[in-house]
Amino acid sequence: MLVIGIAGGTGCGKTTVVNQLLKELPEGEVGILSQDSYYKDTSHLSFDERVKINFDHPRSIDFDLIEEHLTELKKGNAIDQPVYSFVKHNRTGDTIHTLPRKVMIVEGILVLSNPELRKMFDIKIFVHADSDERLIRRLRRDITERGRDLDEVLNRYKTTLKPMHSQFIEPMKEYADIIIPNNHYNTVAIDIVKTIINDKL
Ligand code: C5P
Repeated sequence: MLVIGIAGGTGCGKTTVVNQLLKELPEGEVGILSQDSYYKDTSHLSFDERVKINFDHPRSIDFDLIEEHLTELKKGNAIDQPVYSFVKHNRTGDTIHTLPRKVMIVEGILVLSNPELRKMFDIKIFVHADSDERLIRRLRRDITERGRDLDEVLNRYKTTLKPMHSQFIEPMKEYADIIIPNNHYNTVAIDIVKTIINDKL
């Protein structure tokens, strides 16, 4: 199994890169673990308490469970990936049955920040987009898809996203094998990554 870690700040276009790779690689050979599925269970908190969580700090992520699941997949066993709701700020109780594949992509803003998880990656990719591009994308997405308003997004960006990005995400470029510039959709970079994956398979 080839394990690829893809990180980069919110709104950098990770999902687009992942979707493009999925499209370009043979069907059924690629599986995905999304960091978003692994926000810690917060059922014991009220909604008002959950809203206040710093979702951009590594401690909000259940890295132990990601590692456990990736280890199982490497052994050839299927896992049940939790499903997360950005509207409720909590796990929904549903799971996605995830089968082991030749290529497993682990994607999320903080996946390169955890040393144990980092060791499990064969290829480490960092997707870069400028912070203004990322803020524009984030605003659009959170308002249309995640039930937020302008004030909430801007407030969260200023108080947590930006400082956490500088502290835990941007420095992870140092560990990346490949940095994809993604202010504009980058087909050449996708081609290169695809070639590397095919080479290794
Ligand atoms: O999809 P993306 O990688 O941008 O998702 C990560 C972002 O989701 C984080 O920046 C975090 O602030 C946000 N998030 C949120 N509400 C939650 C959990 C995460 O806005 N309940």
